[in-house]
Amino acid sequence: MTQEIFTGSFTQQEPIPEAGIAAALAVLRHGRLHRYNTAPGEVAETAALEQEFAALTGARYCLAVASGGAAIATALRAIGVGPNDAVLTNAFTLAPVPGAVAAIGARPVFVEVTDSLTIDLDDLAAKAGQARVLLISHMRGHVCDMDRLMAICAAAGVTVIEDCAHTMGAAWGGVPSGRHGAMACYSTQTYKHINSGEGGLITSDDDQAMARAILLSGSYMLYPRHLAAPPPEAFAALTYDTPNISGRMDNLRAAILRPQLALLPDRVARWSVLYQTVESGLQGTPGLKLITRPQAESYVGSSFQFLLPGWPAPQVQALLARAAARGVDLKWFGAPAPAAFTSRYDHWHYAHPAPLPQTDRILAGLIDLRLPLTFTEADAARIARIIRAEVCAPRPAAD
Ligand SMILES: Cc1ncc(COP(=O)(O)O)c(C=O)c1O
Repeated sequence: MTQEIFTGSFTQQEPIPEAGIAAALAVLRHGRLHRYNTAPGEVAETAALEQEFAALTGARYCLAVASGGAAIATALRAIGVGPNDAVLTNAFTLAPVPGAVAAIGARPVFVEVTDSLTIDLDDLAAKAGQARVLLISHMRGHVCDMDRLMAICAAAGVTVIEDCAHTMGAAWGGVPSGRHGAMACYSTQTYKHINSGEGGLITSDDDQAMARAILLSGSYMLYPRHLAAPPPEAFAALTYDTPNISGRMDNLRAAILRPQLALLPDRVARWSVLYQTVESGLQGTPGLKLITRPQAESYVGSSFQFLLPGWPAPQVQALLARAAARGVDLKWFGAPAPAAFTSRYDHWHYAHPAPLPQTDRILAGLIDLRLPLTFTEADAARIARIIRAEVCAPRPAAD
């Protein structure tokens, strides 16, 4: 019998919508790409994007910046984190998160992950006294019990910044992701939920923190041109003490992004279909553990994770090779060395990570796959059948 093969691309995103292409062409034709280069009476695309994204999330203020990583570093700095300060953050996240902490000379203190792939709140409670700020990364879209997280942080006097790179469009208990902490950071990089190649957004209700973020991003003295910013008085005391670190978004990217905001609910619904199709196709596979998702979480299924608890490394490696031979691109968080986008806390030597035995055990069996919206429901079903067959195939003997 011939084996089923998958021929789709796990990295192919959808095209930019025609309205975004038209808006981008208009910016190219008039040539005013810099956000503060406006004709008399003109509202810059970047300022309009900020206003629309603030309205979408319910935040008072929004700032568009050059990348998700720049958003996190700017938010940390805006909230008052400085050189040598400790910042609590997830051990299970991707490299730009500890990278943003390191970029401002601060020190990540990693918190364990649970089998649900969320931050371990008991470990967080135990470590809360070690830092004044928590950078919570909703890694791969898994949202922890945000009510308990906020209670732990409030009790310990810890300010929360949310990394929502994977949760734009998600919610906890009906509250949009990013609306629990003091500031939230989003990415609009190609693999995220809206795509401008590179880009980031910061939201907040805090006048001082957002005024500082706007100055840090490189607003010169042109902050009154922002439409989702604190009043000018909020900037007065900060102007002479806040460095310009130039990380602005430009009007071209903002033009590409604005029409995508309205498409977000439809995208979320389509991701749910793909996610649930893979999930039901893998249900009951011996040796494979699915991730249970809490009732209070509404997630965006733009990627899928499962666990292979207790599998020895050579058996995981053999599975990855068999799946790849059938066209299914699986990533493994247990790999000894960083590969492409996938790396692990103990690969970030610059952060001097302390060993985290629970995280080591979980990541050793953690498999990850992308679900781009160019996949159909039939593609998702086929991918699940291939994974299931290969997980059930006889495994090489472990020595
Ligand atoms: C969890 C997480 N946070 C933050 C970022 C940073 O986003 P960017 O690539 O836009 O800097 C990424 C990017 O992959 C990410 O995966």
